[in-house]
Amino acid sequence: MNIIVTENYETLSEEAAKRIAEVIKNKPNAVLGLATGSTPVGMYKKLVEYNRENQIDFSQVTTFNLDEYIGIPSEHSQSYRYFMDHHLFNHINIDYKRTHVPNGMAKDIKVECEAYDERIRSHGGIDIQVLGIGNNGHIGFNEPDSSLIVGTHVTELTEDTIQANSRFFNTISEVPTKAITMGIGDIMKAKEVILLASGNSKADIISKLLEDKIDTHIPASLLQAHPNVTIIVDQQAGKHL
Ligand code: F6R
Repeated sequence: MNIIVTENYETLSEEAAKRIAEVIKNKPNAVLGLATGSTPVGMYKKLVEYNRENQIDFSQVTTFNLDEYIGIPSEHSQSYRYFMDHHLFNHINIDYKRTHVPNGMAKDIKVECEAYDERIRSHGGIDIQVLGIGNNGHIGFNEPDSSLIVGTHVTELTEDTIQANSRFFNTISEVPTKAITMGIGDIMKAKEVILLASGNSKADIISKLLEDKIDTHIPASLLQAHPNVTIIVDQQAGKHL
């Protein structure tokens, strides 16, 4: 694994955005795997800037997001579709039809999950997958467990995750308890992975993920078995390294 420790959040965001820009420059029809949450917001801001300055052309790019809550519609301000439109898609020259976020309101969620994996496959797989990391080590919404699931599936969010995500809702009872997430196999099949972490609260989990063992109770530790991973952390998240 490559590890990059940046001075601060701004430089972390720049580093990540530059890597995505490079991938698109080398392959204009690249397939991006994208994450939501607080961490990649600065990276999306940079990507919007680069697009405005004509440094990146998104016209042939396809995207697949990692996850979506079950039970809230895409127009809801806390849906991940809304997040992506708001932070990225509405501001760049991407063909909206090429942007994919799991549909958490699908009538048949199992069919939705299978179709999502099939769509990723039919686009030739993910060229670069962006990940954040939960304080409990989750990637996507692959929560710590005694076994992990390979493909896109329904997951029950843990208390830790519900608590962490309640900062975006009025009350904790409004936080959905289930989500659709790409599986560990989907993430491991990506040709390249960049995992971003910022701030003191991520320092412990970042050092655990780098311990020399793979533990399904720290799902991000599986990335040690991936041939092309870069962990980009700011000084606070990287303080134990
Ligand atoms: C979001 C996702 C999650 C987040 C993680 C960190 O699509 O898949 O795994 O990346 O919960 O969230 P933040 O960045 O808000 O700390």
